Amino acid sequence: MGRTTLLLITVVLVAYYVYTPLPGDIEEPWKLILEITTGNIFRNLASIAELLGINHYMSTVQLFLRLQEVPATSDENVTVIDTAFSSVPVRIFMPKRKSETLRRGLFYIHGGGWCLGSAALSLYDLLARNTADRLDAIVVSTDYGLAPKFHFPRQFEDVYSALRWFLQEDVLERYGVDPRRVGVAGDSAGGNLAAAVTQQLIQDPDVKTKLKVQALVYPALQALDINLPSYQEGSYFPILSPSLMARFWSEYFTTDRTLEKAMLLNQHVPLESIHLFQFVNWSSLLPERYKKGHVYKSPTPGSSELSKKYPGFLDVKACPLLANDNTLSHLPLTYIITCQYDVLRDDGLMYVMRLQNAGVHVTHHHIEDGFHGAFTLHGFKIAHRIQNQYLSWLMKNL
Ligand SMILES: *[C@@H]1O[C@H](CO)[C@@H](O)[C@H](O)[C@H]1NC(C)=O
Ligand SMILES: *[C@@H]1O[C@H](CO)[C@@H](O)[C@H](O)[C@H]1NC(C)=O
Repeated sequence: MGRTTLLLITVVLVAYYVYTPLPGDIEEPWKLILEITTGNIFRNLASIAELLGINHYMSTVQLFLRLQEVPATSDENVTVIDTAFSSVPVRIFMPKRKSETLRRGLFYIHGGGWCLGSAALSLYDLLARNTADRLDAIVVSTDYGLAPKFHFPRQFEDVYSALRWFLQEDVLERYGVDPRRVGVAGDSAGGNLAAAVTQQLIQDPDVKTKLKVQALVYPALQALDINLPSYQEGSYFPILSPSLMARFWSEYFTTDRTLEKAMLLNQHVPLESIHLFQFVNWSSLLPERYKKGHVYKSPTPGSSELSKKYPGFLDVKACPLLANDNTLSHLPLTYIITCQYDVLRDDGLMYVMRLQNAGVHVTHHHIEDGFHGAFTLHGFKIAHRIQNQYLSWLMKNL
């Protein structure tokens, strides 16, 4: 009896742990549940370590991720090296086949909520390797300082310095890159940094090379309204929950968790900054179908204490959606991927709308059965599908 009860309790606990409600039309659901459960084990261990005061949550998760890093290894098609651009570590992927002409150049920025990941992470290594091979492009996959050790603007500045280094004429020449065919790309927090440095670059008189394209894969683009419809719908979205996203955003600016608490209440923007809400107003910036079932309520203004201490969350370099129309109108050809089951969906949708209103040429792919992280889930059909779309767009436009 005792043993049966114990077995029953164990089965229930395991089932409860593994149970992950997924939206109905997601492909390969069991494979995904297995992936999510594995991730959850590490994340729960990281939470316990944090509760016990042993280690910062993000630092523990990053430790687990380090186990998935691979050294820079060339294969039959691509030469891979680790080096530094302006003291920022980068991994470069160079096709081996002979080329009569100069090549495309793609500067890639990995995701991980400004806290996690690296160019050496096997999934980013593989992505950059495939990109270099398929596009016959020089791919520079950059690292940057991560929270909690470093906060905004360090992430932005690292990426910007490495990019500026790459865009120098003699550097492009050394790698055989055509200065008229250089693009920037990134996913998630990397998409945030890609959008931010692209905006910065068009205002930088010292940089002569112009970007041809920017490609943003489910980018995070604003930290002012953490209660968009996609956040409201997001509690059952796989991989990235609304609360984890609030944690990532607040960690970008500070380890002080009062910012995260205010963000979760959507009360972190001070009264003197409410004019910025117009740039993230989903009531005016989302297409009708994504507004359905939601009533617009602008965020509640909070005290100005937080923004005095951590002004970064109101900075356009952290929130590219805050750029004015004039800045936006000078942006290069843009590719944006959004996923239906992603808390960052509405950030991307609003940027598409704002860029189009400013006259920028935008190609927008909305993945109806997509979710956050799907782009780099190698071995999943959905990753294959999204990467193919992304690569064929770059093939045509870069
Ligand atoms: C190298 O390219 C060839 C031809 O496209 C392909 O068949 C092979 O799988 C590639 N090798 C690797 C390691 O990707
Ligand atoms: C948001 O947009 C709606 C509809 O265009 C408008 O009525 C509302 O005043 C706007 N709110 C803010 C804070 O910009």
